[in-house]
Amino acid sequence: MIIKQAEFIKSATKPAQFTDPVFPEIAFAGRSNVGKSSLINTLVNRKNLVKTSSKPGCTQLINFFTINDEISFVDLPGYGYAKVSKTIRTQWAPMVDRYLSVRKNLMGVILLIDIRRDPGKEEFELMDWFAKRRIPFLTVLTKADKLSRTKQQKRLAILTKTLERRKEDLILFSSKTRQGREMVLGEIAALLPS
Ligand code: GTP
Ligand code: MG
Repeated sequence: MIIKQAEFIKSATKPAQFTDPVFPEIAFAGRSNVGKSSLINTLVNRKNLVKTSSKPGCTQLINFFTINDEISFVDLPGYGYAKVSKTIRTQWAPMVDRYLSVRKNLMGVILLIDIRRDPGKEEFELMDWFAKRRIPFLTVLTKADKLSRTKQQKRLAILTKTLERRKEDLILFSSKTRQGREMVLGEIAALLPS
């Protein structure tokens, strides 16, 4: 997949505000600070299409982007950040669950997990929602640059087991070195209708 154009469309919290479901859509989900916004910027070769921050909890809305005027990308709000207000924390699950349930054009989700962290209750909850709705998903292990190649392989083996997935469903990724970028783009292309 070659990305020629990428454009921010809008932010939303509820279905009435979502974009018209005209393009096949790919959503990005994961814990706060895991690198969702950085991953999208790396995929589309832009430094600041999506705002990133070293402060977790930066993305608290559902953000819609259009790619090449034919695909839609969605940056979902992050979870698991204790310091955001309770209101925001309690809004996350219904907001994301509702998004997943109504989006008929959703072709798949990229679930991001920091390579150094073990998945928590939210990751398993998300995977349950994907399974319930038969939404295909791919797991991207972010911040791979923080570990040596040997340690990356070790974590890949451990996480494959913990998540009960096949090794080929997990991708080692770094927005810093761009490791895994082509692989993620290839997998996204495979999720899209041909
Ligand atoms: P929220 O919007 O808060 O949910 O966070 P996010 O998942 O969008 O994370 P974001 O992309 O804003 O990145 C969070 C921090 O991690 C930033 O300081 C990034 O520079 C850093 N970061 C993201 N990806 C990588 C990576 O691959 N390697 C390294 N070393 N740092 C990264
Ligand atoms: Mg973000």
